[in-house]
Amino acid sequence: MIKKGIILAGGTGSRMSPLTKAVNKQLLPIHDKPLIFYPLSVLMLSGIRDVLIIVNKGQLNQFKKILPNGNNLGIKISYAEQKNPKGLPDAFLVGKKFIGNENVALILGDNFFYGQSLTKILKKCVKLKVGATVILHPVKNPSLYGVANIDKKNKITKIIEKPKKKISNLAVTGFYFFDNKVINYSKNLKPSKRKEIEIVDLLNKYREKKKLSAKFISRGGAWLDTGSIEDFYNTSAFVAALENRQGLKIACLEEIALSNKWINKTNILNAIKFYGKCSYSQYLSTLIKKS
Ligand code: DAU
Repeated sequence: MIKKGIILAGGTGSRMSPLTKAVNKQLLPIHDKPLIFYPLSVLMLSGIRDVLIIVNKGQLNQFKKILPNGNNLGIKISYAEQKNPKGLPDAFLVGKKFIGNENVALILGDNFFYGQSLTKILKKCVKLKVGATVILHPVKNPSLYGVANIDKKNKITKIIEKPKKKISNLAVTGFYFFDNKVINYSKNLKPSKRKEIEIVDLLNKYREKKKLSAKFISRGGAWLDTGSIEDFYNTSAFVAALENRQGLKIACLEEIALSNKWINKTNILNAIKFYGKCSYSQYLSTLIKKS
């Protein structure tokens, strides 16, 4: 069972400059909340309560203002700084102490997931004991992502980072589940041409040992991108359309914590005080009227 999760929320955000010059990308709004709420909500939906957020050097205080320590969400949030963006598997080296001798999940701070059977799939993923699991999702433009090829039995036969030649339409999403070997494997990775250690090289180590499995979010679910400014606004519009239609919020952290029974009415009242007079607080107050 995986109990620990890392959110990798560093990076330079260069593709979104000048928006990201003063503010970390993960703190920019997707509709009515900061981007980081979405990956954190997904970890919480998986049942993970011990979270390490890895941020850029110098950006810690920005994050602590909005997510101080997790107390009010019934979870534990700790922070670590990444000196420079050395690549995704660096998360396991920066987070070595946090992981200890346990298994761990990694979610990229800019990944957005939504869908009816999502929680069910994630609950299966966190049951991992040995090996690694990735979540695959079909996309129109696979050359922008890590891409996996699978055989008839849904076994991964190949994983390539941003392939120029199409190998399949199945992107490897930014939510990964690993056993404790991930620390040692990450230590031994060599930087690629773009001078980063690559998540696909790490996944290929597991694949070569026949220890890599795949789960799928099919067309009924959404995995959206927040890579470019255009994607950012498209994802924001998706959240706005659903929230305005249903009157229900996506990634309301307190709502998830309350339904998991990790917090109670008092925590919600504290949260309302913390956020102040705003539509998010109004929504929170409807949650305790119901219960
Ligand atoms: O979103 C899924 C994709 O994420 C996967 O399909 C790819 O296999 C994987 O390499 C990654 O591709 P990206 O090109 O989107 O990765 P990017 O460099 O943009 O980093 C993703 C997030 O991680 C972003 O929010 C910044 C953060 N990051 C990145 C690096 C390399 C860090 O915090 N530290 C880092 O060292």
